Amino acid sequence: MNIAVVGCGYVGLVSGTCLAALGHQVTGIDVDTKRVASLQAGKVPIYEPGLSEMILQQTAAQRLRFTTDLSSAVREAQVVFVAVGTPPSPEGGYDLSMLFGAVEKIIEAAQSEKTIVIKSTVPPGTGEKVAQLAAKSPHRLEVVNNPEFLREGTAIHDFMNPDRIVFGAGTAEGLAVLREIYQPLIDKGFHILSMGRASAELSKFGANAMLAMRISFINELSRLASAVGADIESVRMGIGSDPRIGPAFLKAGIGYGGSCFPKDVAALVHQMESLGMEPHLLSGIERANQHQRADFVGRVMRAVSDVKSPQIALWGLAFKPDTDDIRESPAIDIARMLVEAGCTVRAFDPEAMDNARRILGDKITYAPDVTSATKGADAVVLATDWSVFITQNWQGIRQIMRGTHVFDGRNCLASGKVGAAGLHYHAVGRPPVKPGGGREGTVGVVVAG
Ligand code: UGA
Repeated sequence: MNIAVVGCGYVGLVSGTCLAALGHQVTGIDVDTKRVASLQAGKVPIYEPGLSEMILQQTAAQRLRFTTDLSSAVREAQVVFVAVGTPPSPEGGYDLSMLFGAVEKIIEAAQSEKTIVIKSTVPPGTGEKVAQLAAKSPHRLEVVNNPEFLREGTAIHDFMNPDRIVFGAGTAEGLAVLREIYQPLIDKGFHILSMGRASAELSKFGANAMLAMRISFINELSRLASAVGADIESVRMGIGSDPRIGPAFLKAGIGYGGSCFPKDVAALVHQMESLGMEPHLLSGIERANQHQRADFVGRVMRAVSDVKSPQIALWGLAFKPDTDDIRESPAIDIARMLVEAGCTVRAFDPEAMDNARRILGDKITYAPDVTSATKGADAVVLATDWSVFITQNWQGIRQIMRGTHVFDGRNCLASGKVGAAGLHYHAVGRPPVKPGGGREGTVGVVVAG
């Protein structure tokens, strides 16, 4: 099939490249001439494991190309995916101006029957509005919603091995087109869930809000765990072993970030409120998430309270490992809060330094590696669970530090190793480990610590 993908951001690039790998003829379109020129030259503007290689393969096989010329790409395509950004609006909802702008251009360019597939995350009800616009075209333009559930860092795997492919199709024809696009995945036995457009849209938001709620739930419980001497990692297994609950997305820490959870939870709250409904549960999710960061920084500050000018080694800036994305990253907020509290912060992140520098400027310093970030530090604050941090030699770390505190904001370090190196280990919702100490009573499965 000949497919045009409007928007070469994260979702558009990954989806377009994977659609080419499924055998389709794909044209990626973007208004950003620099971005398109760099993609044409084989340079990928975002960090996602495996994506560069896949783009090179697909362009070499002539199944994937990039252009700024929307009109001709749309004219040639049978199907047009819309994967433009839908950033948060100042009121707390979604800013859909780019989406409707793109849709209008598509409608204008279309000279024959086409299917418009909305891939961008959009609030429930948006597909219907797009369909009303599309109905004005003299050509039949089918509008379907096909939300994306991929995670940054594992995006290609997630696209190629979907838990479910959600089709929000207005009509049987729309559904038939999506079936054809995804036939190679359907043949491999992956599930398709066909439903109405608004249901597809709400499924996307509901899934993200549910995952965010689980994180805020375990984080709230982690505060109680600390107060009563329980270990939240054991509790997570105790809870998550119930098959009705499961252990995923119940990892306590400094909270969630990224371009999706914060925005989607806020948009759901906004949409319910604007419809005159009170979102009792949803409104607490982000509040709990924000509290977690402030609480963590408070603990760090108490540990270094007797140091005159505390030096903090901040390990990680990205909102999670295997990405350079710092949007809504708890690490960035924590860096700001530490600086405001009077600390000097020296940070290292394997991929997100350039992005962080653009936001934080010279508020903090940027180290070329873990060792340089940690030399002379009174405390190590781990904010992103990159494997390079998890596999550190703690004896070596102890020798280059000035102080002895290690704060594990992702509960990912081996507490015994940190303690054995003569360091104080502080996690989230877990009993602290003193220098030379170990942890007792962890559940009989392999968990951090
Ligand atoms: C999320 C969803 O997981 C995807 O299914 C969805 O497609 C995507 O949003 C989207 O809407 O585009 P993503 O934002 O890439 O994916 O990141 P996640 O892997 O979900 O992690 C989100 C945040 O939660 C990270 O900051 C992570 O550190 C944190 N997290 C995750 C926890 O604090 N605890 C956990 O147990 C799991």
